[in-house]
Amino acid sequence: MEWLWNRLGSLRYKKYIQELRLKPDENALDFGCGGGAVSKYIAEELSNGSLVCLDTSAFWLEKAKKRMTGLSNVEYVCKTIEDADLPDNHFDSVFIHFVLHDIAEKDRQEVIDALACKLKEKGLIYIREPTRKDHGMLPSEIEQHMEDAGLTKISDVYGTYFLWPHYTGVFRK
Ligand SMILES: C[S@@+](CC[C@H](N)C(=O)[O-])C[C@H]1O[C@@H](n2cnc3c(N)ncnc32)[C@H](O)[C@@H]1O
Repeated sequence: MEWLWNRLGSLRYKKYIQELRLKPDENALDFGCGGGAVSKYIAEELSNGSLVCLDTSAFWLEKAKKRMTGLSNVEYVCKTIEDADLPDNHFDSVFIHFVLHDIAEKDRQEVIDALACKLKEKGLIYIREPTRKDHGMLPSEIEQHMEDAGLTKISDVYGTYFLWPHYTGVFRK
């Protein structure tokens, strides 16, 4: 059953990333990459580009490395975004996939500000977060954090995956 669940999730992540039509030469950052379930599909799109997978958990980064064995365009960073030695104004795209809701409310704006700082002018943040009251956060809160970081909303979509409602947004610097 767990295998089936993971497989369905994986196909869904693949579709999400492929539909974004990333440019092959983009520099991307997957913030809170976890075990690389989404990162793998991002890296596969970037045949002439690169992906930085950042997570504060060494355990999950090891899983991500294993999942992406053979993909040479991926770098792994085990740090907070504030402490990571990553250049400012560098990334074309930043992914936040089911991460922000796990971060303490008081720290969320600082994280979004730091991520916005790493984006190039006109670069995009792609965010997807659960919105259930008992597990998730309000879309209005996400949009406020982005606005406060100086980003402009490009799109928002409200979806449900089985019993899990979630928000998907795109924001431009
Ligand atoms: C629910 S998992 C999502 C993983 C992955 N993005 C995905 O969708 O499969 C949340 C991840 O965020 C990471 N995380 C939590 N707080 C973080 C922070 N402040 N900086 C970087 N990563 C963080 C956790 O270690 C965990 O791997």
